[in-house]
Amino acid sequence: MAKVLVVTSGKGGVGKTTTTAALGAALAQRGDKVVVVDFDVGLRNLDLVMGAERRVVFDLINVVQGVAKLPQALIRDKRLENLWLLPASQTRDKDALTEEGVGKVIADLRSRFDWVICDSPAGIERGASMAMRFADEAVIVTNPEVSSVRDSDRIIGMLDSKTVRAEKGERVEKHVLITRYDPSRAARGEMLTIDDILEILATPLLGIIPESQDVLKASNVGTPVTLSNADGAPALAYMDAAKRLCGENVTMHVPAERRGLMDRLLRRRAA
Ligand SMILES: Nc1ncnc2c1ncn2[C@@H]1O[C@H](COP(=O)(O)OP(=O)(O)OP(=O)(O)O)[C@@H](O)[C@H]1O
Ligand SMILES: [Mg+2]
Repeated sequence: MAKVLVVTSGKGGVGKTTTTAALGAALAQRGDKVVVVDFDVGLRNLDLVMGAERRVVFDLINVVQGVAKLPQALIRDKRLENLWLLPASQTRDKDALTEEGVGKVIADLRSRFDWVICDSPAGIERGASMAMRFADEAVIVTNPEVSSVRDSDRIIGMLDSKTVRAEKGERVEKHVLITRYDPSRAARGEMLTIDDILEILATPLLGIIPESQDVLKASNVGTPVTLSNADGAPALAYMDAAKRLCGENVTMHVPAERRGLMDRLLRRRAA
């Protein structure tokens, strides 16, 4: 049965779009049929991160308004044949995302895919509430800092009250994904600890994605990080998170500094 998953956060710039692309690709690499849907009307970033910006003809709002049929707007990934993108519109008319229209598109997507992954815009306005409205599950992307955790807490409240599932008295299954985790800053006590975050949010942990140059490089070449640098730490962490979404029991790795200080000093001397 299809699952609708929203990737959300409240706070902007924490890694939602990166995560949508990476989890979408990871699930497709495992063999599931996946569509990633960009709800960020006006900004439209997911097509760039997926490397499909030149192939966008129709978008989510065109389909919601009946200007285009769903198959006309879906873009098939060039690397993974079971990964698809439904892009956002660059028009700034967020009101075009009516609940009825979005509901129909999501229902149609459910009948075609195993996973419908909705990339939410930042904030708690219409775009964000439409992205989560029909979700069965949610990945709450959180950075290890107070403002991000506070916004995540607010979003958890919305998931528990403003979704169709919540209104029916059902639960949206929630997972926290900690991204941009920097082991050296963590060692210096400059970030919230994983335990602090989980205690505040009281929500199960899906994974910890380290801060890494791999992510920027991947988005610059328009390739999800699980494909562009499959052996790198963020890719492996996203692959593990995808396994957990599929119900597998995978040991959680807290990212560690790659080399100790002595090791780095010795290397510098040797160079
Ligand atoms: N693990 C990471 N390591 C390093 N940089 C990262 C990581 N994750 C995301 N970034 C960078 O952070 C920036 C924001 O990421 P992204 O666009 O995915 O966030 P977002 O939550 O979708 O933002 P918005 O709220 O604007 O939609 C990008 O430049 C991205 O490359
Ligand atoms: Mg984004």
